[in-house]
Amino acid sequence: MQSKSNSDINHEQIELLEYAQKRIKQKKFLYYHFVLFLFISAISLSLDHVFNVSSDIIFLEYSWSFWVVFIWFFLLLFHLFKVYVNDRFINKSWVKNQKNKLIKVQKAEIESIKQKINIESKIKAESEVFNKKPQLITIIVAASENNIIGNDNKLIWHLSDDLKRFKNLTKGHHVIMGRKTFESMPRALPNRTNVIITRKKDYIADDAIVTNSLEDALSIASDDPQPFIIGGGEIYKIALDYCDRIELTRVHDNFEGDTVFPEIDEEKWIESNRIEKKKDENHNYDFTFITYNKIKR
Ligand SMILES: NC(=O)c1ccc[n+]([C@@H]2O[C@H](COP(=O)([O-])OP(=O)(O)OC[C@H]3O[C@@H](n4cnc5c(N)ncnc54)[C@H](OP(=O)(O)O)[C@@H]3O)[C@@H](O)[C@H]2O)c1
Repeated sequence: MQSKSNSDINHEQIELLEYAQKRIKQKKFLYYHFVLFLFISAISLSLDHVFNVSSDIIFLEYSWSFWVVFIWFFLLLFHLFKVYVNDRFINKSWVKNQKNKLIKVQKAEIESIKQKINIESKIKAESEVFNKKPQLITIIVAASENNIIGNDNKLIWHLSDDLKRFKNLTKGHHVIMGRKTFESMPRALPNRTNVIITRKKDYIADDAIVTNSLEDALSIASDDPQPFIIGGGEIYKIALDYCDRIELTRVHDNFEGDTVFPEIDEEKWIESNRIEKKKDENHNYDFTFITYNKIKR
């Protein structure tokens, strides 16, 4: 059973005391009324019958004193009924109790509705989390040993296996790039959604979506489970914080160039896969495919 707090007990005690005082007052009045009735009845009857103080008011053959006593008697009866029946059972506190009972029922109902809503919204939130596909924002880049990725808005090397890998990984996905990288290509990459980032408000590009920030580009790709950031240097630099994975092709040589990929911080990134490739008739350099995943804190 739930224990009552001190303030509840005090409040109840005060109410009981007030009620008891009120009842005493009511009964006292009833007693005075009774005494007054006896007194007035005695005086009326004496005046009428002993001192013969008569009146012209005679109704149904009864004297005026009879009617005084008779009517007053009913008033007294009414008073008696009010004190012992009406005020005892159907008084203010009875009304209050009924009201409280009703409020209690309403409160319980509201509470159960609230609980239902809470449970439903919890289930909805959980199912949204459950249904939301995790997104793997991925940087894909080829960089030399000294982190050079391009020169004069062009790529420096041609590695056919690297291009094949790029095509396989990015096919069907969003490819997000800076305006300069887009302009370094003959046209938009086919079978991918090309998204270009530029500060120019009126930039127009064929077969590509133009945005003015990396955040906008990523929100366009929000339904893609693996959107790719494909360069160049400026975009890689700002994208590193947003990305979960880096697909790096490390070209094992040093080059001169004007565009660099930022140093990969080993405190933040962990290598998870590595495939080494030797130079051959189609590839002028040794190179390695390395996958890095961001370390979740
Ligand atoms: N090796 C690789 O894997 C690889 C991959 C891709 C590219 N690349 C090479 O990288 C070079 C191009 O890279 P890059 O650094 O010069 O240029 P970029 O990153 O491709 O594009 C730079 C442009 O992006 C826009 N931009 C940059 N930051 C922005 C921001 N915060 N908000 C809105 N727009 C922004 C600006 O466009 P606006 O000037 O129009 O405002 C800026 O001029 C080329 O040599 C290319 O061949 C190499």
